[in-house]
Amino acid sequence: MDATPLRAVLVTGASAGIGEEFARQLAMAGHHLVLVARRLDRLEALASELQARHNIRVACIASDLSKSDAAESLVAALQAQQIQVTGLINNAGFGDRGTVQDLPLQRQLDMIQVNVTSLVDLTWRLLPALKESANSFVINVASTAAFQAGPNMAVYYASKAFVLSFSEALHEELKRTGVAVSALCPGATDSEFASEANMSDTLLFKAGTMTTEAVVRKALASRRRAIVIPGLKNLLMIWLGKLSPRVVTRRLAGMLQA
Ligand SMILES: NC(=O)c1ccc[n+]([C@@H]2O[C@H](COP(=O)([O-])OP(=O)(O)OC[C@H]3O[C@@H](n4cnc5c(N)ncnc54)[C@H](OP(=O)(O)O)[C@@H]3O)[C@@H](O)[C@H]2O)c1
Repeated sequence: MDATPLRAVLVTGASAGIGEEFARQLAMAGHHLVLVARRLDRLEALASELQARHNIRVACIASDLSKSDAAESLVAALQAQQIQVTGLINNAGFGDRGTVQDLPLQRQLDMIQVNVTSLVDLTWRLLPALKESANSFVINVASTAAFQAGPNMAVYYASKAFVLSFSEALHEELKRTGVAVSALCPGATDSEFASEANMSDTLLFKAGTMTTEAVVRKALASRRRAIVIPGLKNLLMIWLGKLSPRVVTRRLAGMLQA
């Protein structure tokens, strides 16, 4: 990296799937980037490709967001490299299929740390810089899972309900500051998520997936909205869910990922 301060959008979970696609579309729009994930080799390959194709600078930072000090170390690395964050995409996350009792406790606690705690931690630490920057934004990747309980993926669904609620509240709190906050709620999307979560053979994923390209296009185009639900099918499912008793929606969610 050269010594000129870099004004960049930070994307967590940029080594695969939706996060990688955020990096691609933001690069195409001319944004400098900070890419974050555990797999540094993947981040560096993506950074080289994007820098060769677009007139941008890309920094890569390896970080395991399941560690309690990850956000603090990440922000220290940004300061050391003189990077000012002008946009934050809290995208890193994972799920796992299984009952609360059957899944290892540490796996479920790591899920809360990555999907919830590190997201809040990073947001809090970067808000002062975001407030100083015109037209800055935060996109928190929630899920259609945020709208009902999910038996057989209880912690994952609860983590995404947190992300949705937190982002909606933050959207209102920051309305007059110029920082746009959005909760992106994708449904089943073609990425590494399903295999990581042991969900490839579920009805939810067999019923069809959206491309990461379409999900991210919608997210970036709608980033001033509090809640963004890409895809007509996902939107309809959520509206139908709102009209149904909770006992119906949670049982349906359980069936889709049995
Ligand atoms: N795909 C779907 O159907 C779907 C639907 C709704 C919501 N979402 C949400 O979308 C987001 C992105 O998921 P995806 O579909 O793109 O899945 P993916 O292809 O599996 O990508 C997940 C990303 O998160 C990163 N990550 C996971 N654990 C991490 C950790 N401990 N520390 C740092 N980074 C970590 C991974 O990087 P490393 O492994 O290199 O660390 C990877 O870059 C997640 O929040 C997910 O819950 C996905």
